Amino acid sequence: MNTVKIFDTTLRDGEQSPGASMTREEKVRIARQLERLRVDVIEAGFPAASQGDFEAVEAVARIVRESTICGLARAQEKDIRRVAEALEPAASRRIHTFIATSPLHMERKLRMTPEQVLAHAVDAVTLARQFTDDVEFSCEDAVRSDPDFMCRVIEAAIKAGARTINIPDTVGYAIPFQYGELIRDLMTRIPNAGLAVFSVHCHNDLGLAVANSLAAVLAGARQVECTINGLGERAGNAALEEVVMALKTRRDVFQVETRIDTTQIVAASRLVSTITGFPVQPNKAVVGANAFAHESGIHQDGVLKHRETYEIMRAEEVGWKANKLVLGKHSGRNAFKTRLAELGILLESETALNAAFQRFKSLADKKHEIFDEDLQALVSEDQLDNPRDHYGLIALMAHSETGEAPRARLVLSLGGVEKVTEAEGSGPVDAAFKAVERVVKSGAELQLYSVNNITSGTESQGEVTVRLAREGRIVNGMGADTDIVVASARAYLNALNKLEARVDRVNPQV
Ligand code: KIV
Ligand code: ZN
Repeated sequence: MNTVKIFDTTLRDGEQSPGASMTREEKVRIARQLERLRVDVIEAGFPAASQGDFEAVEAVARIVRESTICGLARAQEKDIRRVAEALEPAASRRIHTFIATSPLHMERKLRMTPEQVLAHAVDAVTLARQFTDDVEFSCEDAVRSDPDFMCRVIEAAIKAGARTINIPDTVGYAIPFQYGELIRDLMTRIPNAGLAVFSVHCHNDLGLAVANSLAAVLAGARQVECTINGLGERAGNAALEEVVMALKTRRDVFQVETRIDTTQIVAASRLVSTITGFPVQPNKAVVGANAFAHESGIHQDGVLKHRETYEIMRAEEVGWKANKLVLGKHSGRNAFKTRLAELGILLESETALNAAFQRFKSLADKKHEIFDEDLQALVSEDQLDNPRDHYGLIALMAHSETGEAPRARLVLSLGGVEKVTEAEGSGPVDAAFKAVERVVKSGAELQLYSVNNITSGTESQGEVTVRLAREGRIVNGMGADTDIVVASARAYLNALNKLEARVDRVNPQV
């Protein structure tokens, strides 16, 4: 029991972050990277939420071979059957079923008595066991639940066949020492606790998700549920990279191991950030751009003399490396395809590959050195240029000159019809957005506009994130180009396409 399982829920809880919803292809790309990272379990989604979620879980189950694939189900028959169906192609599958056990959730949300909740839990686990031996049961809002009642529910769930018991801090309310005590208490008091692995799932509302998860490991938990970059509902979940590196760096304290290949951490972080449009703050532990940068002279001097004076981990250990030149102007289609495959990107059709290769060629004309990060952006951009998209960018001309009002002129495709539009703005990006709005009239509110360099240097591609909100719905759009105005227009149109392609999905916790 000296191994802690890493259960990644980026594709399920992570996707519940407002604006972070992913397409099936995006989920498959992230799942492949999670497999390379060697996570034990990938929670790929909540199949009952929508047909799209079902198909995404099924696609991940078909492709990933080295990690167990898990699907979430409320403690309801139709949810469980849907998960079982979606997981059919998996090499190794897990059904994760949950029901709330706190008085507040039982009374106000479920409108059930504790006895009804207990009966639902047992029925759900019993049904799930008909499809797989690997069943996980969660007491939603465990931290605000009565421990005596949880002992009864968990004992019954284990008796019904659950082999992983998860104790979520659903609302991020726990404090590390209390949470550790709760885990220890449950593991000691429940007579059949030894038949199950105890798992933790912490939200970050008080910024304590990682600390709580680690306290639980010290108390005996042997599975941690987490997400890349700490993505997740509200303030997010425990960040995988922080949990894993804390366990590794302070092995002297925790005395446990994980299976994770830590050199894949930065690549996973970048991929999730690119796909969701959630930038990683520069001072973010482990994966932030400044995580291994030393600014002050004293620190620089110390690190040059002896690295360990100011560094507790090596940058290479988590996958930071100098930008590696991979391809250039003269690289052929085969080299391009091979490098994409090495990055785990398999384009579904020859047409998609040809389109991506054309984009690569025109990028190589503008930018002489192409790095892995450029390819990642180029391909996600390529997948964003979906034939089903309503809005597309055909051409853009921006003019800015000191003393003159900046102007932008765009040729757009609106449902297959070409439209020319122009506007002035406070800068060329503002002018481009105003020009788009002049014809689209989306009524959406721009909540966030951010630009990041994909690699270093002024020749680099800029990656733009645009967040739009309309009628309570929030979406993130992404665009990348060496020209920031073009990248911005693409990001804006990408967000509008997401608003347009409205998919109704259920949130498991609502
Ligand atoms: O936060 C939570 O309680 C959850 C459960 C569904 C595990 O996400
Ligand atoms: Zn959660």
